[in-house]
This record gives sequence, C-alpha cells and structure tokens, in this order.
Amino acid sequence: MATSEPEAYAPIASQPREGIISRILSNTSVLTGRHSQREYDGSDEDEPISMAADWKMMPEIRVFQKQGEKDEIKGRKLGITWKNLTVKGVGADAAINENVGSQFNVPRAIIEGRHGAPLKTIIEDSHGCVKPGEMLLVLGRPGAGCTSLLKMLANRRDGYAKVTGDIHFGTMEPKEAEQYRGQIVMNTEDELFYPTLTVGETINFATSLKIPFNLPSDKASPALFQKDNVEFLLNSMGIPHTHDTKVGNEFVRGVSGGERKRVSILETLATRASTFCWDQSTRGLDASTALEYTKAVRAITDIFGLASIVTLYQAGNGIYNLFDKVLIIDEGKQIYYGPMKQARPFMEGIGFYCDDGANVSDYLTGVTVPSERKIREGFESFPRTADEIRAAYEKSSIKAEMEAEYDYPTTDVAKQRTEDFRIGVQHEKAKGLPKKSPYTVSFGRQVKACVKRQYQILWGDKASLIIKQFSVLAQALIAGSLFYNAPANSAGLFVKSGALFLSLLFNSLMAMSEVTDSFTGRPILAKHKNFALFHPAAFCLAQVAADIPVLLFQISHFSVVLYFMVGLYVFSAPVFLVNFPRFAILSDCLMLDGKFAER
Ligand SMILES: Nc1ncnc2c1ncn2[C@@H]1O[C@H](COP(=O)(O)OP(=O)(O)O)[C@@H](O)[C@H]1O
Ligand SMILES: [Mg+2]
Repeated sequence: MATSEPEAYAPIASQPREGIISRILSNTSVLTGRHSQREYDGSDEDEPISMAADWKMMPEIRVFQKQGEKDEIKGRKLGITWKNLTVKGVGADAAINENVGSQFNVPRAIIEGRHGAPLKTIIEDSHGCVKPGEMLLVLGRPGAGCTSLLKMLANRRDGYAKVTGDIHFGTMEPKEAEQYRGQIVMNTEDELFYPTLTVGETINFATSLKIPFNLPSDKASPALFQKDNVEFLLNSMGIPHTHDTKVGNEFVRGVSGGERKRVSILETLATRASTFCWDQSTRGLDASTALEYTKAVRAITDIFGLASIVTLYQAGNGIYNLFDKVLIIDEGKQIYYGPMKQARPFMEGIGFYCDDGANVSDYLTGVTVPSERKIREGFESFPRTADEIRAAYEKSSIKAEMEAEYDYPTTDVAKQRTEDFRIGVQHEKAKGLPKKSPYTVSFGRQVKACVKRQYQILWGDKASLIIKQFSVLAQALIAGSLFYNAPANSAGLFVKSGALFLSLLFNSLMAMSEVTDSFTGRPILAKHKNFALFHPAAFCLAQVAADIPVLLFQISHFSVVLYFMVGLYVFSAPVFLVNFPRFAILSDCLMLDGKFAER
C-alpha cells in the first residue's frame, strides 16, 4: 500500500490546521502504519494486526482463527482487482415509450433496432484493487453509481446493458468466479425477510446452510458449530435479545428498523464469504452501532484476510479512519482512488477547503457540489467539474502508486492464494455436491432446511392459517347445504355430479389464491440464491412438500363435510373407504397441480 507523501502537498503543511490533520491521522497512525506496511507477499504473521483490536468480539475471532491454523485449513483470501471498468445501462428515456402510439412508430423502431437503444454510462473507466485484508470505502452522492460499482465487484452483472473492462477475483475471471458466488457476496440496501420468522429462525436458517462438511476439530457436531455460530453472530451486533422476536415489516410488528438492518448484516456474515460488498449497511443505525459494525468488518477483514468494499453516507471520522483506501465517484466518474490518509490532503492540494475537524467523508463527497464546497484562498482556478478533478488526480503521484498494484492477479502470491481458496472452499463442501456447485451443504439438507423454514413461516402466521381452515369449512357447509341429501337414484345423479364438480373447482381455485404468496417470496429467494444458500429447486420442492400435509388436512375436512352432507355412498363402510380417499386425492392432485403451476 502507498505511503504518505507530505512533500507533494506542501502548501497544506503551512496551514494552521496542520495540527488538526495530523491529530486526525495520528489517531490511527500507529495501527494504520503497521497495517499498511504489511506486504502482501504471503509471509505468515503470527498475529495479524487489526485496526479494530479493541472490538469486543476480538477474542472469539482469534479463537476461530487459531483453530483454523491448528486444523491446517487453507485461507480463503481472494482480493479484487479491476481496470477500465465501464458499465452502461439502458437510459430511462429509452426504456419508456412516450405514449401508447409510440410503440407503433415504425421508423423510430427501425432506427433504434439498427443502432440499439441509447445507453447511459453508469460507471466510467473505474479502476482499483482491494487485496486480502484491505477495506475500501466507496463515497458518492445518491445516484453517483456506488451501488452499480459494488454490484460489479460482487459479480452481479444482471440488469446492465453493457459491462466492459477487466475484473479479477484473485486470479479468476468473472465467469469462473460465478461458481463461487457464495464467497463473493453483497449486502444490498433493501432488507428482504420473511416478516413472520423470528430473528433466531432467520439466522439459524442461513447458518444451517453454511455448515462446513469438515468441521473444525473443536466442534463435536454440526449442530454445535451452528449454535456457536449463531450465538457469536447475534452477540457481535448486540442483538441476542431479539432472538425470539419476529423480524417484522410495515404490517407485522417486529424488531426495530436498526435491529432489522443488523439482522441483514448478520445474514450476510453468516455466508462466511471471502469478499464482502456492503451497500449502505449502516442506514438506520445510530453512530455508535455504525462504528461497532465497521469495527466488526475491519476485524474479520484483518483476521481472515477478506476483501471488504463498503459504501456509506455520513461516515463519521471514527469510521472513516478504519478504512485503508477510498474511492470517490461523481456521476460515474472516479475522481479519486487512493489511500484513505491521502484523500483529504489531495483534495486540499487542488484547492478545496476543509474545515477544522470536519467530517472527512462528507468533505470528500461535497467537493463536486458547487453549493457545498469551499475554495481555499489563492486557488481561483480550481478544478470545477468531475472531469477536471479526475484529470488532476490522473496527474498526481497517487494514481501511479495505485496502478502499481493492478498486476496483483498475475503475481505468484495471488495465484497461490486463489489455489488455496479453491481448496478451502472444496474442503467445506458436502461430498456429494458437483465440483462446480456453489453450495455448501447437500441437496437433501437444503430441502430439509427449506421445509423447516416453510413450517416456521406458516406457524409465524397462525392467524391466516386458522382463518383459511375455517373459511374452507364454511364453504363446505354452504356447498353441502346446496346439494343436501341427494337422492340415491338416477334423480340424484345431476345433484351429485354438481357437488363433485363444485368441490374440485373450489379446491383448484383455492390453490390459485396462493399465487400472490409465492411471489412475495421471490426477492428473498433471489437474495438467498446469490448467497448460494440453496438451489432454487430445493426451495420449490420444499414448498410443495411442506404444503402436502396442510393440504391433506384442509381438503379432508372439506371433503368429509361435503361427502356426508350430499350423501355420497354412505351405505357401507367398504364403499366409503374406497370412494372417500379417491375423492379427496383427486381434489388434492388438482390443488397440487395448481401449486406446481405457480412455481
Ligand atoms: N440496471 C440499470 N440500468 C440503467 N440505469 C441504471 C441501472 N442501475 C442503476 N442505474 C442508474 O445509474 C445511476 C446510478 O445508480 P446507483 O448505482 O444505484 O447509484 P447510487 O447507489 O450511487 O445511488 C442512477 O441514475 C440509476 O438510475
Ligand atoms: Mg445505492
């Protein structure tokens, strides 16, 4: 990592606020200095140094790390390097037709067909390198492109029209890294949860699907490993008291907004990934919890050699100082990428005034906002636009220093680490899984965990379940009274067939009413798929399997009422025993058929 270069920005040194700058920087100078001097040459250190050495869970983390060393587990250190990264999306004007008639505008359709829809550049020529053990802070105003950059670095390219440039995860190309999607994860801004599950159930589910096949030697059973893991996670974010509280949402009363955000952080941590991208993960958190979160990320990044990329609005100086590098984006243009310590001196060096004791991340984000920035005396010809600041950056020695790192993917260290990463991931994977499978536990265990969760969701929303059963009963009584006591001769043929038809129709329509339920779960399914928790097929199978007993019960009590009220073959036990199951199974099949059609 680059070292500071005080001479390059000599004018600032003569400013009275020098004391402040050095004070801000010196807060972490001892640790940062030690950290930044750490060469990534593969040399083993007994005790990795951490800037978050005072984090409350540090002893526990050290135990994990020591155990891993004792078991000779290969580290999963990847790191990300990217160059010339340009991302384009379909512009808003291209995506929307002006009016209903515009779609029939043939000449325009032909022109657009030939030239393609106009594309908007979301990220322009971005570059950077986050080696194992480093943390990058991405700063930008809303709409600058932070989320899009993070998505690229988390290898999630869907939804963008064109992505060009090189990205390497360790030495792997994005295509190859797809099979490790559970190791390159992103915590998105949205909190997507089943509101009726408790916090404990939510975290238990995620951790149960990431239990390594080869357990650490100090853990006697998978259940023990998982229990300890859940305990550690909940304690690390200070929310063990919410274990039995529902996650909730706008309608279901549950944990508070800040606690829900922490659940989302924990669910991401439960993936035990190698590369984390955190998109505005401190939104809704108070300052001290946000600092605690950043320390947690810093600690695991240092100890396990992760690469962490974080975007934050309103990061206080305490948080800002925990990062190694900073990347500032303005409207997709990368105006600064370099060491955290040099970002402020650089911006001051090109003319932007920073108040004593100002919030550095706010200052850095504000330099492109004419109404917010202040200019230092004597800098009347300061760079006014993002392009001009970028030009100044490109001329600076910081860029050259940072560029020296971009050959990281071709280095022997990176090759060795990526090889170790592959072995490390394979070591954790269940035996029966295909070599390229991104999942950790076997398909059977995935289905089992999903079935369990399905029942927890049902149980969490008992009221709906009970109301549904009662309404089915009421329907059966109404239908039964319509076709009551059909005569057991040819005159009753019409009534009985009517009753049969109605019961089949009712049950298949009931299945259709659940289509909306299955759609509400889609975003959560997509999130979990990205975390490589389970195969979507496991989820579908589990949903159907979990529905069968519930449907059997529902259709049985419907059928019993209707069957006897209409008077379908009650005259002898054997006939009833043959006919009733036939009737119920036919209804069940129709309902299940509807269920599969929904998926
Ligand atoms: N998939 C996409 N296709 C087209 N435009 C997009 C897409 N994703 C984001 N954008 C646009 O790119 C800009 C940056 O978006 P985003 O990365 O979400 O910004 P930020 O996270 O910094 O607020 C926004 O103007 C947004 O509308
Ligand atoms: Mg965003």
